[in-house]
Amino acid sequence: MSTLFVSTWQDAGEPCVRAAWENYCQTKSLLSACEAGLVRVELDPAFQAIGFGGLPNAEGEVELDAGLMVGSSLDVGAVCAVRGIVPVISLARAVMEKTPHVMLAGDQARRFAEQNGFEVRSLLSENSLRKYEAWRRDRSAAEVAHLVHDTVTIVGRDEGGRLVSACSTSGLAWKRPGRVGDSPIAGAGFYADDEAGAAGATGVGEDIWRFMLSHYAVERMRTGDPAQKACEKAIERMVRRKPSTAGQTSVVFGISRAGDWGAAASGPGFTAWVCEDGKVGRHPVPALSV
Ligand code: GLY
Repeated sequence: MSTLFVSTWQDAGEPCVRAAWENYCQTKSLLSACEAGLVRVELDPAFQAIGFGGLPNAEGEVELDAGLMVGSSLDVGAVCAVRGIVPVISLARAVMEKTPHVMLAGDQARRFAEQNGFEVRSLLSENSLRKYEAWRRDRSAAEVAHLVHDTVTIVGRDEGGRLVSACSTSGLAWKRPGRVGDSPIAGAGFYADDEAGAAGATGVGEDIWRFMLSHYAVERMRTGDPAQKACEKAIERMVRRKPSTAGQTSVVFGISRAGDWGAAASGPGFTAWVCEDGKVGRHPVPALSV
């Protein structure tokens, strides 16, 4: 049985799955591999979606969300609205492993981070600061601000059939301070259960959360749907129930317990990256016609 990673978006997905695979070869830990994939992208300011260099909120502060789930134990860790800490996916893992809780939020998550050896630092890069200042100068850019976001999510399955889903984001650009989207919410931005499958999401956090896209896709897999059909059913249900979501590019993708993968999107522009036993491929995902 192969080891498979699937991750999100044209630019970030490839380094994410490559870092995950490299880590997996060394550690044979699917959880560490998925974490390493996201850490790779979080620490690189070239990617404005997550971590250092992520686009800030309306007050110029980068506020990060992250979460992960282990499909064998159903253990979950998450953090939301965290300022000044990277990598937040590692902080989410620390919440899972060092506390009895699922999520820590805001300043208290940062305090927990400091207690666990993370350093507080500025998360604005030259590029994200320049973009923020441009937005401040011309608020008409707010017309499109709701589109200026994405997230990096990775779903993995190892040779033993174990599943992990993990997700990290700086959320919606220029968001209201304190706004939290789907990404740190188990069932919305990520979900994994070895008895069914694993799924992750990216796109409009409010819609993904409203429809619990990752959980819904995994539950479809539990009934025997292949991952592709499960993801399509999740997007179809969202668009049918709330037609304004069509064209907005929310995405759910996943891997079934049988090892097949799939992805579906409600709008254009999404690319998945897949790594199967080290062989990496790029897969554009057209908008589903509902
Ligand atoms: N999907 C990321 C967010 O909306 O925050």
